[in-house]
Amino acid sequence: MRLNILTLPGDGIGVEVTREAVRVLRHVAGKYGHELLLTEGLLGGVAIHKTGSPLPDETLRLALEADATLMGAVGLPEFDNAPPDKRPEKGLLGLRKALGVFANLRPVRAYASQLDSSPLKNHLVEGVDLIIVRELTGGLYYGVPRGITEDGGETRAVNTMSYTRSEIDRVARVAFRLAGGRRKKVTSVDKSNVLENSQLWRRVVCEVAKEFPDVALDHLLVDNCAMQLVLNPRRFDVVLTENLFGDILSDEGAVLAGSIGMLPSASIGGRRPSGAWVGLYEPVHGSAPDIAGQNKANPLGAIGSVAAMLEYSFGLKEEASAVERAVETVLDSGKVTADLRPCGAPATTEQVGMAVCAAMG
Ligand code: IPM
Ligand code: MG
Repeated sequence: MRLNILTLPGDGIGVEVTREAVRVLRHVAGKYGHELLLTEGLLGGVAIHKTGSPLPDETLRLALEADATLMGAVGLPEFDNAPPDKRPEKGLLGLRKALGVFANLRPVRAYASQLDSSPLKNHLVEGVDLIIVRELTGGLYYGVPRGITEDGGETRAVNTMSYTRSEIDRVARVAFRLAGGRRKKVTSVDKSNVLENSQLWRRVVCEVAKEFPDVALDHLLVDNCAMQLVLNPRRFDVVLTENLFGDILSDEGAVLAGSIGMLPSASIGGRRPSGAWVGLYEPVHGSAPDIAGQNKANPLGAIGSVAAMLEYSFGLKEEASAVERAVETVLDSGKVTADLRPCGAPATTEQVGMAVCAAMG
């Protein structure tokens, strides 16, 4: 198969983890006889430096042409006080919206060999295998009106949480379909005791649920969900939630996996102008400028995102499971980066990437 992939390494550790993800991609292509067409583009802080924009037109064009995009990370402290349009994050948000990838899948697994990496007690995290389905192109991230205004000597900041019925409906369907192939349970997370937005969310999710009678549905308020994630994480199979809640809960979920460096993600649902499906794949972690360029970052979230890409964008299930099995073998072998190994000699980013390739044979 021909795999036409755009890479957007972005900022900070995005560069080094993407390098290892590409190493694994090349290895898979070689081993299974796929033709790999790789293009690299600019996104985030590096794009601002080189072009003045966090999402140059050229990057958008390349992403719309590619079958799938692999992103590293965006964000640099030097832009912390920059105006909204000159922030690296704006590039990523623009890309998600332009590609129309409305469903962000963030699996969280507690690997047996890494239980001690989590600050939680082993008996709580053992066997955790959940997936957060985060709505990705709506809610507070994109709602209007937004902005900071001066009025009568007072400064006001406004953001808007807005969802339409169809935006909720389509992401709910992704969650129910996914649950159908797993443990058949969807937990929808909202704040319907306070927000009208969440009341509509809950209503639409209940309607969609009727079409999936073999999938059980329950609802949690987001504050309670935050607590249940660390009190009783095994109760979760598929967690369905809106954009900001999903952003926050997925970082919390990383504690279950031992490190945020472990978490991959797949953003799906988008279509190109031609009608073809398009996906964006990115590790959940940020650009971690404090450790960038030191060959210490954990590349497994990025490598897991390659597995997700092979499965969702190309339907290459065998290749995807081969990558996932190799990741597990490497974890079992103890060849892991410092985030998973607080004492003892850690492996480098590059060594982990090479070990994953070696484990695939
Ligand atoms: C994530 C990140 C992004 C988000 C940032 C970098 C804009 O935190 O993917 O979780 O908030 O969506
Ligand atoms: Mg986040």
